[in-house]
Amino acid sequence: MASYDVIIIGAGPGGYVSAIRCAQLGLKTAIVEGRETLGGTCLNVGCIPSKALLNATHHLHEAEHNFAAMGLKGKSPSVDWKQMKAYKDDVVGQNTGGVEFLMKKNKIDWLKGWASIPAVGKVKVGEETHDAKNIVVASGSVPTSLPGVEVDNDGGIVVDSTGALELPKVPKKLVVIGAGVIGLELGSVYARLGSEVTVVEFMDFITPGMDADVQRTFKKLLEKQGLKFVLGAAVSGVEASKTKAKVNYKLKKDDSEHTLDADAVLVATGRKPFTDGLGLAELGVAFTPRGQIQTDAHWATNVPGIYAIGDAIVGPMLAHKAEDEGMAVAEVLAGKHGHVNYDVIPGVVYTSPEVATVGKTEAQLKEEGRKFKIGKFSFMGNARAKAVFQGDGFVKLIADAETDRLLGAAIIGPGAGDLIHEICVGMEFGASAQDIALTCHAHPTYSEAVREAALACGDGPIHA
Ligand code: NAI
Repeated sequence: MASYDVIIIGAGPGGYVSAIRCAQLGLKTAIVEGRETLGGTCLNVGCIPSKALLNATHHLHEAEHNFAAMGLKGKSPSVDWKQMKAYKDDVVGQNTGGVEFLMKKNKIDWLKGWASIPAVGKVKVGEETHDAKNIVVASGSVPTSLPGVEVDNDGGIVVDSTGALELPKVPKKLVVIGAGVIGLELGSVYARLGSEVTVVEFMDFITPGMDADVQRTFKKLLEKQGLKFVLGAAVSGVEASKTKAKVNYKLKKDDSEHTLDADAVLVATGRKPFTDGLGLAELGVAFTPRGQIQTDAHWATNVPGIYAIGDAIVGPMLAHKAEDEGMAVAEVLAGKHGHVNYDVIPGVVYTSPEVATVGKTEAQLKEEGRKFKIGKFSFMGNARAKAVFQGDGFVKLIADAETDRLLGAAIIGPGAGDLIHEICVGMEFGASAQDIALTCHAHPTYSEAVREAALACGDGPIHA
């Protein structure tokens, strides 16, 4: 048994970042993790492995579709799925190993096992109970289940995002349930690998929460890559055998029932907080009606000494949101002033092209009754994007109608996930669209499209 200033439960991006900041601020820190490796869902079975597969299959797509036009002739590469998965595992190993190194470097103890909190100030891991002045719950989330659908990742037929990274072979027909971030990223991977991918979505649009023009353009681009969509459809059940599955759904517009045959089914209908076995309810910790741990502005629960961050609490389930909360709660525990600006949290879908958003959407501002203006610029007017066959998307900036202050942005295009941060920094500094428009942007870069969209908020873009 040992005694700590802070014990953090869960070593995902929220937990491990928080542990490092706690240690940097002089707190004696331990982190509890039951997985074999550190890094949580993100590093082990989420963001990182999926990005490896997205990268590999993006190159395949380029070879198949754009090499010849660039004068690169020859046979397209063939897919060695086993090797592609080995590459993915190697990327994961490098990253989880990196987190372990950072724990050692910062003298953070890794308590291996699954934690419970038997009493305030106590954390039990295996047979050992440790003392902690403060406990930070960073236990993350797990995929939600769907009535009538039994996920069996080991079976490799009906899988969630974890199983989809390990399919025994590339399926001929893949049905994806849910046109959210996971469904579209992994759906893209398999479409590029040659699967016939059909995405069945409950809403009448994809990626709920984005503006309609962004959804429409994004859907069109994915359709161009071979993905098929069935929208306005509620999946009622999946019948699976050892080798195949049937996906039953009902169209909302006329209640008609339909079936899709599949060699594999990916269930990507959202995630829910994971707090099982921690004993929080027994201690009287309050939860929201959606099962999230209730916290105040300083990530404190209603039970003194117990804090919570990341996917287990309210807010977008994003690794970087959890990281920011992890750093901020560490500052609070060290007697400083931790803060997270929830108005400036970017979201990125890592398809090709990427889709990135931040701040308010047009729809939200209309609902708030706030007057705004929009500056939009197509990547068709961007020389660099055209050179890489990616002129289809756009940059959309939203600024206050009177003050010109940046309120939000959406970017569909090459490098969108990096470009969005120019807007994030601008928003943090209270920048106007004109501030972006007056900033010299190197030519030829994708970022010129951001400047052009900013110009479109004023006297007009140059290349449109
Ligand atoms: P999601 O909430 O983004 O999308 C789920 C979709 O499934 C929704 O469009 C919903 O309408 C649909 N759906 C629900 N029930 C359905 C039914 N019965 N039939 C048909 N469609 C149905 O959830 P997703 O994609 O599973 O992702 C989970 C979380 O992980 C999200 O919060 C997401 O932001 C996060 N994530 C973020 C990534 C990123 O930032 N790049 C990558 C992967 C996950």
